[in-house]
Amino acid sequence: MKSGFLEKLVARLDRVEPGEIQQIVTRLIREKGFLEKVFEALREGVILLDPKGNIGFVNQAACRFFGLDPERALGEPLASQVRGLDWETLGKPGRTVSRDIEVLYPEHLFLNFYLAPIDEETAGEPLGFVVLIRDITRSRAEEQETIESERLNALTLLAAGVAHEIGNPLNSLDIHLQLLGRKLRKLPPGDRAPLESNLATARGEIQRLDTILKQFLQAVRPTLPRRERHDLHAPLHESLRLLEPELQARQISVELDLSQNLPPAHIDPGQFQQVFYNLIRNAYQALPGKGGRITIRTRSTDYEFRVSVEDDGVGISPEHMGALFEPYHTTKSSGTGLGLLIVRRILREHGGEIEIESQENHGTRVLLRLPRSERSVRLLAAPEPDPVIDLD
Ligand SMILES: Nc1ncnc2c1ncn2[C@@H]1O[C@H](COP(=O)(O)OP(=O)(O)OP(=O)(O)O)[C@@H](O)[C@H]1O
Ligand SMILES: [Mg+2]
Repeated sequence: MKSGFLEKLVARLDRVEPGEIQQIVTRLIREKGFLEKVFEALREGVILLDPKGNIGFVNQAACRFFGLDPERALGEPLASQVRGLDWETLGKPGRTVSRDIEVLYPEHLFLNFYLAPIDEETAGEPLGFVVLIRDITRSRAEEQETIESERLNALTLLAAGVAHEIGNPLNSLDIHLQLLGRKLRKLPPGDRAPLESNLATARGEIQRLDTILKQFLQAVRPTLPRRERHDLHAPLHESLRLLEPELQARQISVELDLSQNLPPAHIDPGQFQQVFYNLIRNAYQALPGKGGRITIRTRSTDYEFRVSVEDDGVGISPEHMGALFEPYHTTKSSGTGLGLLIVRRILREHGGEIEIESQENHGTRVLLRLPRSERSVRLLAAPEPDPVIDLD
């Protein structure tokens, strides 16, 4: 229907035949139905509002984003249906607003909320508003990952620089202590023995610092995984062996529930040893006092490996939950706050992911999911058939 047609029609309404009016109204109803079907077919949410912000139309996508019941929402103010939206600041005449919003219920989503007034040709009160809503959850997640990896790179550079600066004087200290050792040999044995014991302690400590430094550098330096077909249980056993003395001293029982027929994984075994080492260490550090239990489970499905490390320790409070992967975020006096970040980096470089569930004072479960790389293609569940739109 051409624009201006309706205005002309209204102007000469008194001269139009009743039959003709009926025809035009039927056509208008059909066109309205057609537009509604187009709106329903969109993935974007569409909401039409009257000048006061009451909902006149809401499509299925918008209902899904905000968990609305279309029957109940119609005629109600948008602000009462989508709690947290401040209509007073949003619905200003003549103003277009684009805002990113976070929705927590019914699904955690990030949305772009775009509101534009529908103005009449003659200036004045707008006829209403149109709201368009786009799901930007994925692009935000990608953006977040880029920021994180940039932060990690900056951190790595800094850490490598500091480690280098510490490494040089350590090296020189060691050389001087060696020289001192040679000079000591010329002293009478009575004077020599106590000094040699001091010297051995000093050199031992330097050695220890050097090892810590090397491990630290290895942990933060982004190295591409050197993947090979390998038993996933091997690096797990190796980490347990390294941690054995600490686990025994704290009387922690480790329960292993390992899959009997785990196929070989395509992994960098050294990096996975770091993964298990960090997770098991976190688990036992969360066990207060002596005793406690750590359960490690491995499973494989058609398309992925699943490894869980579970403890019945102090758990993680909701405030800390959001910051677990922040570099340097630690609740321990001697922690670096890099462990989980490194674990996640390694998992992601292997195409996997890490999930953490925790209940304060009850315990924590860390689940690793690693795709089975022998299969390069995986059939996904058949999608829901697209709704067929009947356009009459
Ligand atoms: N199993 C767990 N139970 C309770 N809290 C945990 C657990 N794993 C991690 N956390 C929490 O997450 C924080 C970050 O862990 P992450 O491994 O990254 O660093 P860290 O353990 O503090 O330091 P580092 O690993 O260098 O010793 C910890 O300080 C702790 O508060
Ligand atoms: Mg840790």
